[in-house]
Amino acid sequence: MHYDTATGRHGLKFDPFKALAVPRPIGWIGTLGADGQPNLAPYSFFNAVSDRPPMVVFSSGGHKDSLRNILANGEFTCSLSTLDLRDQMNMSSATVAAGVDEFALAGLTATPGVTVRAPRVGESPAAFECKLWKTLDMPSPADGKGVTYTVVFGLVTGIYIDDAFIRDGIVDTPAMKPLARLGYMDYSVLSPETVFSLNRPTVAADGRSASVVPGPWDGVYR
Ligand SMILES: Cc1cc2nc3c(=O)[nH]c(=O)nc-3n(C[C@H](O)[C@H](O)[C@H](O)COP(=O)(O)O)c2cc1C
Repeated sequence: MHYDTATGRHGLKFDPFKALAVPRPIGWIGTLGADGQPNLAPYSFFNAVSDRPPMVVFSSGGHKDSLRNILANGEFTCSLSTLDLRDQMNMSSATVAAGVDEFALAGLTATPGVTVRAPRVGESPAAFECKLWKTLDMPSPADGKGVTYTVVFGLVTGIYIDDAFIRDGIVDTPAMKPLARLGYMDYSVLSPETVFSLNRPTVAADGRSASVVPGPWDGVYR
């Protein structure tokens, strides 16, 4: 099948777009309200967009509390959501009234950042501390229905890693069991069994061919 997104006539039960943009990491966004109240919510329109300097983005459908707080004080954190914390992550997405602390609602610890005042999830094995770089308003939906998204760009100013997940100078990400968002109400998890390595191709001197060292990572960072 093929459909034109301008018509939206896909003939399926639900819009398939998010079921195909997969797997998406989940940025678990921690902010502080104007009154100093912690706020937490998951965002799967989230990703890293640069590593020098390290920068992340997330996208808010309408002006939700996280975006409002970031526009007010310029700071946020993104904690890693993991299999062990899936129910807490889900609970923190509840559309409770502004001013309700979703850390408390989900039974999580709001741990202050080092380079930002915004709190991270104390139980999460990793978190980025971010300062707002800029926001960008997305186009409104063609049919005029629904919310307009705003993308938030953050400069990562500090990174927390639970030392228990650092082995031989390498972060053991699969051991953290990070969640991935799929379509509908589906999720997946990154685990040691599903991770494999590929050596990056080496280009020949004449620039016209390339070869790959077979097998697991040879330890050269290409
Ligand atoms: C896994 C997951 C991913 C989500 N991703 C987004 C997203 O990318 N953008 C968005 O606007 N809402 C997203 N939501 C919904 C928000 O988490 C929800 O609206 C939340 O109440 C917003 O909280 P806030 O007002 O405190 O920012 C997601 C929910 C879940 C469970």
